[in-house]
Amino acid sequence: MKKVMLSFGTRPEAIKMCPLVKELKTRNDFKTVVCVTGQHRQMLDQVLKTFDIVPDYDLDIMKDRQTLFDITTNILSGMKSILEKEAPDVVLVHGDTSTTFATTLACFYLHIPIGHVEAGLRTYDAFSPYPEEFNRQAVSIVSKYNFAPTELSKNNLLNEGKKADSIFVTGNTAIDALKTTISPNYKHPMLDWASGSKLIMITAHRRENLGEPMINMFKAIRRVIDEHKDVKAIYPIHMNPVVRKTADEVLKGENRIQIIEPLDVVDFHNFLSRSYLILTDSGGIQEEAPSLGKPVLVMRNTTERPEGIAAGTLRLVGTEESVIYDSFKLLLENQKEYDRMSNATNPYGDGFACKRIADILCNELKEK
Ligand code: UD1
Ligand code: UDP
Repeated sequence: MKKVMLSFGTRPEAIKMCPLVKELKTRNDFKTVVCVTGQHRQMLDQVLKTFDIVPDYDLDIMKDRQTLFDITTNILSGMKSILEKEAPDVVLVHGDTSTTFATTLACFYLHIPIGHVEAGLRTYDAFSPYPEEFNRQAVSIVSKYNFAPTELSKNNLLNEGKKADSIFVTGNTAIDALKTTISPNYKHPMLDWASGSKLIMITAHRRENLGEPMINMFKAIRRVIDEHKDVKAIYPIHMNPVVRKTADEVLKGENRIQIIEPLDVVDFHNFLSRSYLILTDSGGIQEEAPSLGKPVLVMRNTTERPEGIAAGTLRLVGTEESVIYDSFKLLLENQKEYDRMSNATNPYGDGFACKRIADILCNELKEK
């Protein structure tokens, strides 16, 4: 029997791959094997638990303050024996993390075909986001099957010379996940705390933003929240100790900003759906917010998700304190501007991406 292996290791990959694991496991055409790298430990386990998935393999590579060298070399060497033992017909990787890149490299060394979920996103700036743009372009060099979320990502791949019959527009599996999490009856004590105020959701973690840019981001947020008494913010903070230290230094002492542990994805999506607006440098949240009609100020200089900008829901505000301050303040004070960005449009698919990917794999792996 043919074998499909999935490899993932961070929170966002897990959120977008777990629905696919579930779909693939319903198919009898092939065996599905799950390998996690453990690039994230707690934040990965949180998602696995929510989706009730027990991996077949766990490389458990995470180290505190790990470097890109640590992640890449540990995955590369750990993956070899698993790939040799399982000899999968295809390995599915997701997006652009170092787990994705290192898994792809290991498969390339062993001549194992790669299927790339969320293929074709681009900024064409290798240092922004860093190292993700390099990672995803590197995967595209060797990937056999490219599951592009949108026509735009498909066109990026075509322009780079990928063969049309290797590219499948499926929608983004993020929307499949989102369909299962939001509930109208959802309640949480933190939402009670914020009730009666405009709720701002904050996340930040990008490697290229650590240090000065992140200090600027937090200073701008702090100033606006200090000045607007009708606003409360919830910041489920990433587990990176560098992020935690900066947030503690700049945001501490404002009791209308609650810094809390990372939320389970069900909680987080429901918080987003009840928020007034979102400030983030995350990739995945840029896909979720347009579906929810929540304005997002993207604290980055580039985005690989221009669909959300075209839809009007996202605005790139960079990492300068004054620009973030002005844009955040504008959205709080100018209703017209706020309404203009609050339209719920969803450029990322209908929530059936996993089914499409599974169908394609059934067809492609059929004995011909
Ligand atoms: C990684 C990905 C990034 C993705 C992000 C999602 C790379 C190079 N980066 O970045 O593309 O957007 O995940 O969040 O692949 N930590 C914990 N527990 C956890 C997770 C992280 O303690 O569950 C701490 C550890 O000290 C770890 C550090 O955070 O060393 C950074 O984690 P790492 O995976 O290297 O980078 P991220 O910034 O999370
Ligand atoms: N998310 C979550 N809990 C949180 C913060 C984020 O479940 O406390 C989810 C969010 O809905 C999105 C994903 O994590 O699906 C984004 O992950 P992250 O920002 O860490 O990574 P990126 O998308 O930037 O790679």
